Order: sequence, then C-alpha cells, then structure tokens
Amino acid sequence: MLKQDHRAVEALFAEFEDADESEQSELATRICQMLTVHTQIEEELLYPRAKEAFDEEDDEMVYEAEIEHGSAKELIAKIEAGTPEDPEFKPLVTVLMEYVKHHVKEEEKELFPALKETELDLKELGSQLAQRKMQLMEQMGIEAEEAPEPRRKRSTGSRTSAAKRRQARAGSRSKSARSSASRARH
Ligand SMILES: [Fe+2]
Ligand SMILES: [Fe+2]
Repeated sequence: MLKQDHRAVEALFAEFEDADESEQSELATRICQMLTVHTQIEEELLYPRAKEAFDEEDDEMVYEAEIEHGSAKELIAKIEAGTPEDPEFKPLVTVLMEYVKHHVKEEEKELFPALKETELDLKELGSQLAQRKMQLMEQMGIEAEEAPEPRRKRSTGSRTSAAKRRQARAGSRSKSARSSASRARH
C-alpha cells in the first residue's frame, strides 16, 4: 500500500509538471494532502515499529527518513500557504518532488527490504496503516476518488480507448465512403 501511495504521488507530480497554472493549484493541494496522510501514517505506525525491530545501525535509516519527512513538511506548508501566481510556487513543488523521489527510493530500496528481514508482522502492520489512512482521509475530507490512486493511468487509458473508438468509427465511415464511391464509378 505504501508503494502504491508512492506511485500515485509520482503520477500527480508528473501531472503537475505538464499542467497549466489553472490546474496547478488543485494538483498541488492533492499532492500535499496525499503526502500529509502518507507521512503521518508512516510516522505514527511504520517508523516506531521499524525502530523496535531494527538494531541500532539500521535505526539510523529510520531517523534519516524522519528528518526527510520534516523537510518535506516544511515545503508542504509553504506550498499550502501559496498560490500558483507566486513565483516560488512551482519551484517549491519541484523541490518537493525531488525530495520525495529521493526519500521514496531510500524507503523502497533500503528500509522496506530491511524490514522484511525482521520479525515484524508486516501483514498486521499493513492493515493498521490502511485503517489509519482511511481515518485520516475522512478527517481531512478527502473523497475516495481523490484518494491516492493512479488516476493518471486510468484517464490515459480511457482517453486511448475513446480515441480508438473514434478511429474505428472514422475507419468504418471511410470504408463505406470508399465502397459507395466505387459503386458510383461502376
Ligand atoms: Fe516516508
Ligand atoms: Fe513512504
């Protein structure tokens, strides 16, 4: 689930990069909300459990992650207080994206694999994370469809199939146009 969140926020960042100013505000809000929920459930549930399960050396990874969350939250606060008209707005989102990219890589390549090596019941932890995520989303008034899901892929998919349908229709039209043209010649 945490990895799904990572993919979903990456998709939103990509959408933000291509978006014009009128869409940037809504996208930035969604990015900030998603990251707020995600960082909070990790801080409340994942990181404390990880510290318990890890030895001192591996604990350092968790402290690093917490410090990175702190920096991300400062950026999130600035973005939430700003508007796309501010010259700093887009650069703030870009820096947040770079931070998150780095942080996600460390979690997925180091922290999560190290957790798998411990005695920690990851299934149980996973369901606790999912439960807390739903609770926080409800508190923050985030709708289910605004929930961390790869929306971009879905909409691209429907665009593609709509385009295919249009193409197919155009194809059959031109075929019948061709056949009536050839009938007319005969
Ligand atoms: Fe994290
Ligand atoms: Fe994460």
